[in-house]
This record gives sequence, C-alpha cells and structure tokens, in this order.
Amino acid sequence: MDLDSMKKAVAISALDYIEVGDVIGVGTGSTANYFIDALAGIKGKIEGAVASSDSSAARLASHGITVLDLNDCDDLPVYIDGADEVDRHLRLTKGGGGALTREKIVAEASRRFICVVDESKEVDVLGGFPLPVEVIPMARSLVGRRLAALGGMPALRNNFRTDNGNFIIDISNLSITDPIELETRLNNIPGVVSNGIFAHRPADILLVGTSTGVRRRET
Ligand code: A5P
Repeated sequence: MDLDSMKKAVAISALDYIEVGDVIGVGTGSTANYFIDALAGIKGKIEGAVASSDSSAARLASHGITVLDLNDCDDLPVYIDGADEVDRHLRLTKGGGGALTREKIVAEASRRFICVVDESKEVDVLGGFPLPVEVIPMARSLVGRRLAALGGMPALRNNFRTDNGNFIIDISNLSITDPIELETRLNNIPGVVSNGIFAHRPADILLVGTSTGVRRRET
C-alpha cells in the first residue's frame, strides 16, 4: 500500500470520533484533505467546522459544509489534523503546509486532538523534518540570526506568506531532544508568532495508517 492510500484510510477512520451535532476542528494538508472529503459523506451529522487554514475552509465550503469562525464557538469537542512527525509521547512537529499558527489555535480550543498520519511520520526524535517558525515580517532577519545561534540551519521559505500575512523560516538539522523546552524558547524570541512544535499541547489520540490497517495510540 502506498503512503497516499494509508493517509486516505487513516483519515476515513477519524470519522468514528465525530458525534451528532458536533462543531469540529479541521486541520490542513493532504491527510486533512482526505478527511474533509470523507466528512462530506456525513455532513448532515455535524453542525459545522472550524478550519485551520483558508485552503481547508475553501475545501469544506466546496462540499457544502458550514464553516464557522472560532470566535463564535465555545471549546470544540474534537480537532482532526495531520502532522509532519510524531514521537512516542504524541508530541508533534507540524506546519509543513505553513498553517501552524492557526493549527495550534484550533488544537488549543479543542478538548480532544486526534492526529492522523501515515506510518512514515513516526520518529524517535523530532527534528528530521525542517521545523517551521512563523515570523512577523519586520523581524525576519533578527529571528533568522537568533535561530542560527540555536545550532540549526534556518532558511526563509521562498515566495510564501501565511494566511496571517507572515513569513515562515524552516529550521533544518535540529535534533529536538526536549520539545517542550524548545517550543517555549522559540516562542520567546520577539517577532516569532508560533513554531511547529506541538509539545505543550500534544495529540491525545494518534491514528496511524499502515500497510496492514489503522493502528491507534493514546497518551
Ligand atoms: C500543515 O501546515 C501541516 O501542519 C500538516 O498538518 C502537516 O504538514 C501534514 O501534512 P500532510 O498530511 O500533507 O502530510
């Protein structure tokens, strides 16, 4: 089975976690897109969805699913999204698609974060995938220098602006042995909006698409 088929199967399996009348949080990326397409088949069951990006909002709307503003919602019962990497404590790196800040907001607003990944995303130590940091434009150069001092290799993502109008700096060659500490440290650099480490608020349930079916882990 190829990775795309695993993503699709695991995305479909997340439908089991949705209850009648829910307003659900919906993530961003190729796995989240499979989830949105599957959600269309049960759209009458939910009241609506809060999207973590403009692209996911557009995809939800194209299926006739009501897209709600987070400011009009209370805490959400569930948030379903992919990840770039996940470790054994269900700490994640995210933001390969650049939606990390809104993803972090919707995850924080949700009582349960169900992360859906294919088996290639499971790692022993986070950091193999370049870690995105969203940066306010005027601080791009300052933050780049501070990130270089951490030991990684920061690179401005070419021709890219986030949905919030900011830049992304991707840091390669990091070995994230203490994700909580690094998440805090990066957030404390003035000009950083957020970073792609999800360790303070890890996933609650991990669904992994494998060649032999969907496997579940939880914290
Ligand atoms: C989007 O900004 C990301 O956080 C995605 O959730 C992550 O990159 C996983 O994407 P795929 O599902 O496309 O692998």
